[in-house]
Amino acid sequence: MQQPRDHFSSQFGVFLAVVGSAVGLGNFWRFPYMVGTHGGAAYIILYLVFVVALCLPIMFSEFIIGRRTQSNVFGAFKKLAPGTGWWGIGLLSVAASIAILSFYCVVGGWTIEYMIQSVVGFSSDVGVLGHNFSSFVESPVRPILWHLLLLGMSAVIVVGGIRNGIEKACKIVMPFLLLMVIFLAIRVLFLPGAGEGVIFLFKPDFSKITAETVLAALGQSFFSLSLGMGCIITYASYVKKEANIVKVSVYTSFADVGFSILCGLAIMPAVFAFGILPSEGPSLAFITLPNIFAQLPFGNAIAFIFFAGLTVAALTSVISLIEVVAAYFTEELKLTRRTAVIITASIIVVTGSLSSLSMGALKGFTIFGKGIFDMFDYLASNILLPLGGLSIVIFVGWVLNKSVVKDELSSEGRHRVPFFKWTMFVIKFIAPIAITIIFLSALGLIKLF
Ligand code: PFF
Repeated sequence: MQQPRDHFSSQFGVFLAVVGSAVGLGNFWRFPYMVGTHGGAAYIILYLVFVVALCLPIMFSEFIIGRRTQSNVFGAFKKLAPGTGWWGIGLLSVAASIAILSFYCVVGGWTIEYMIQSVVGFSSDVGVLGHNFSSFVESPVRPILWHLLLLGMSAVIVVGGIRNGIEKACKIVMPFLLLMVIFLAIRVLFLPGAGEGVIFLFKPDFSKITAETVLAALGQSFFSLSLGMGCIITYASYVKKEANIVKVSVYTSFADVGFSILCGLAIMPAVFAFGILPSEGPSLAFITLPNIFAQLPFGNAIAFIFFAGLTVAALTSVISLIEVVAAYFTEELKLTRRTAVIITASIIVVTGSLSSLSMGALKGFTIFGKGIFDMFDYLASNILLPLGGLSIVIFVGWVLNKSVVKDELSSEGRHRVPFFKWTMFVIKFIAPIAITIIFLSALGLIKLF
């Protein structure tokens, strides 16, 4: 039985939900270690340029498609370009969401484990912490249980619907998350020796910029803003005609960047204060930081706050990914929301468990030379996401009527659209060319610089 379409209650509700999707493990876990491994401030500046010049127009494009059609990502393309094959982008988006969920929920599960471990406290010996981390992620049961818990909580929220489920959850947790990261950043700034970390974050050394840095910054900006996989299209389909989508996109982008920089400020100064190399890589959040927490007064409490924040941030991103798939099942297969969410979650239980097991029991099993976890990450981040982003901008720039674009950006003439020509220029030319170059070089088909 089909229920009438739900909507976000207000423009602010849309903003919080989209920020909830954008702010996640990408900000807390990935951004700080990317800044660390790619040389600090120069990377951040590149990242900012990409967000403003490229991601923002792509976000506009996703909002236009979603709000115009009031449809799931597959139905949206079918409505806008009937009788063509553009609906393929919709399927690609659904596949990308499943691929991301399959590894993202696993890492989200790790944050729950670490939140619990922080009650007892961490060892101050990095060797012990490293061993703990690998034996935990390689174990067959606990990581899967935590991944199920995160998935289950997210599924319950999504079953609650847009206004009473997703919007409500984001309204409750996002302010908490902001307070938490501000608290951590302030606490860390008072550590002796923290200044060096702040300098690392804000004093650019442009000699550090290489082709790899450029690619990393662009990939990160897409991932962090939840672009290229129909997530914003899906949320936008629940946005009312009056909302100013240009404003929501601009505020969301700034909020996401703000969160990332605050996370950097909460982490880098501590890394420097304890004489640790900033280029620790992905283990930063699970080995290096627990080591720092173990040496801080009230370290357990601080660690608990940090990992609770990480879990909550992951949760609001997971719900946005589930919604992409569930909306597709609900509208295209005419299922109830509850059934659609149960089917989506069941798929992720299987793919997520396999991805978790690929760290241990299934380590030897590889597809194209990669373990299952890495394969999902690679497939989503390096293939489906750029391909999705590319198709979306080409569609809006070259297929969709310009008057539809203007109509949506101005909310049917209600709002002024500054920089319309520039936006169209980026959507038509700059974004497709830039994404193509990145895509090809990420696949190793061309070499930059
Ligand atoms: N933006 C999220 C993060 O930075 O953690 C991850 C994400 C969520 C990516 C939703 C894509 C998406 F559709």
